[in-house]
Amino acid sequence: MKRARPRTTAALGLLIAAWLLAPNAARAQFMEEMYPGETLFGECRDCHNFAEGAGPGRKAPNLWGVFGRVAGTAPGYDYTPELKASGIVWTETTMDKWLRGPGNMVLGTRMDFQVPNETQREYVLEYMRNADIAGYIRAIQGLK
Ligand code: HEC
Repeated sequence: MKRARPRTTAALGLLIAAWLLAPNAARAQFMEEMYPGETLFGECRDCHNFAEGAGPGRKAPNLWGVFGRVAGTAPGYDYTPELKASGIVWTETTMDKWLRGPGNMVLGTRMDFQVPNETQREYVLEYMRNADIAGYIRAIQGLK
């Protein structure tokens, strides 16, 4: 049997080393390309929770079940009177407008964050819809 040439072995070693050093970055990039909404939603998680039965996040209400919900009604969060009085029902349309500029939609709201890019808003809403698909379907059927 022929032995592998040292140069081939060294090149192979370099390749393996590169792969071992890269996986985190590579995985992050892969996630971002495959699931842009999930990645973008990570920013919402700085303030919000998004989990069934969870209480509010660090600075903002739990967004689980938000489709079809009346604004300012998630339990355990102390909303601004302005948002509570807004009468908004959260749908893709109202949330798209909200994410464009919460303060333009509800003067005096405490949410100080916006997503000016339309495609990014679509990705975020798509992610939220898919994550809680049962709640979304109930909402579009008018069941809550
Ligand atoms: C810097 C903190 C912060 C970030 C980041 C943030 N929010 Fe908020 N959000 C808030 C706060 C605070 C409120 C409550 C506002 C009020 O009471 O006036 C809120 C309220 C909301 C509401 C209304 C909820 C309800 O129960 O009526 C929605 C919907 C919402 N945010 C969606 C999002 C989405 C989607 C993102 C990410 C794209 C996001 N927010 C990012 C702070 C944040």
